Amino acid sequence: MSKQVLVIHGPNLNLLGTRETDIYGSKTLDEINKELVELGKKNSIEVIPYFSNHEGEIVDFIQIKGENADALIINPAAYTHTSVAIRDAILARQLLTIEVHLSNIYKREAFRQTSYYHDISEGVIMGLGSDGYFLALQTLITRLKEHS
Ligand code: DQA
Repeated sequence: MSKQVLVIHGPNLNLLGTRETDIYGSKTLDEINKELVELGKKNSIEVIPYFSNHEGEIVDFIQIKGENADALIINPAAYTHTSVAIRDAILARQLLTIEVHLSNIYKREAFRQTSYYHDISEGVIMGLGSDGYFLALQTLITRLKEHS
């Protein structure tokens, strides 16, 4: 069975490509997901993208899909700064996690400058736009191949 990487996008990230493009860039979520799935395929890794605006749905997804997955890339979006519930779900499933943000949250408003995920993530990538997702996946591919 091939290794699985979950990619979770939190609230409003479905609006990528139209939402504050000066901050978040012009690529749509569909484009990002398709490219991630392709990169995974080339490396015999199953990439499973998921988007939700709802905290409880993200918790459900991690509980269910996290049971068989090997790693997680997550941009919790606004839940970065608020959600203990999503943090706890990741901890419960003990997923190797990389946190990604399109923008550099430390260059922005004070309320964005805390994250409930930094200390439970293997790594954090921010401020590099959508490239961050691909850098994260590339790292996980290397790690997962080392441990296969
Ligand atoms: C974000 C940063 C968050 O503060 C914000 O709420 C988002 C996107 C980012 O990718 O830069 O929705 O996670």
